[in-house]
Amino acid sequence: MLGIFDSGIGGLTVVKELLRRNPQASFIYLGDTARAPYGNKSKETIERYAVEDAHFLVSQGADALVVACNSMSAYAMDALHAAFPSICIYEMIAPAVEIAAKTSRGRIGVIGTRATVGSGVYAARLRSARPGLDITSIACPLFVPLVEEGMLDARETKMIARRYLAPLVQKQVDTLILGCTHYPLLTGVIQARVGGRVKLIDSPCAVMNVIEREDSGRLSAGVQRYYFTDNNVRSREVAEKWLGRGIETKFAVLTKP
Ligand code: DGL
Repeated sequence: MLGIFDSGIGGLTVVKELLRRNPQASFIYLGDTARAPYGNKSKETIERYAVEDAHFLVSQGADALVVACNSMSAYAMDALHAAFPSICIYEMIAPAVEIAAKTSRGRIGVIGTRATVGSGVYAARLRSARPGLDITSIACPLFVPLVEEGMLDARETKMIARRYLAPLVQKQVDTLILGCTHYPLLTGVIQARVGGRVKLIDSPCAVMNVIEREDSGRLSAGVQRYYFTDNNVRSREVAEKWLGRGIETKFAVLTKP
C-alpha cells in the first residue's frame, strides 16, 4: 500500500491523479498540517519532519512511499533512504525533470518553495539531463498559504501571481515546472498569467506516470485513509473541494522513529 505525504494538502494533487487512474486504489495519506509550511524551513528540519512523517505511514502499513512534496524531495531523500533502506520511495523531482528536458524548446521556468528553489536541485538536474537549457527559477513562498486557505481563485492570489511570474513572462519560457505539489491547485491562475502557449509540467502527474510504469501492482484496490497532524475543518473542506468527494479525516500523532 502506498503511503503518500506532504506538509499539508498539497500532496492531495498526487492522490487526485492516483484516483483519476484508479478510483479504488489503496493508499494512506498524511498531511502534516500542524507544522506546515515546510518550504521556508532549513534542510535539517525538513529531513527530520520527513523521517517522522514516513515513520508514521510505515507504522500504519505503508510498504512504499510517495514523497508528495518537492521541498522534502529536494532535501530529505538521503535521510529517508537511510532510515527506510528496504522501502521503495518515489520523489517528485526526477519525473518532472525527465518530461521538461525532453519536451522543452529550450527555455524552462521552475517555480517552487524557497527550500526547493534554494536547493538548486531542479536547475542542476535539468542541466545534466540537457546541457544548454536556459533555466529561470523563482521561489513563490506565498502560494502555499494561499492554497492552504483555499484562495485558489482569489483576487489577491492573482495579484501575487502577477508579481512572482513576471520574470518568467519576460524571459518567454516555453515550459514551466510546477515544482511544488500545492501549485497544481493554482493551475488556472498560473496558466492565465504566463499564457496558454506555455506548457505547465504538473509533477503529480509525472510521478504517477513513473509509479504506473515501474509498479502498476501498487495501484491495486483497498483502503483509503486520510490523516492530518492538525485535523482542522478548513483543511478537510479544501481537500474535499479539490478531490471532488467527501472524505473522512483522522488525527495523526507522530512519534520519533
Ligand atoms: N507541497 C510542498 C512542496 O511541494 C510543501 C510546501 C510547503 O509546505 O512549503 O514543496
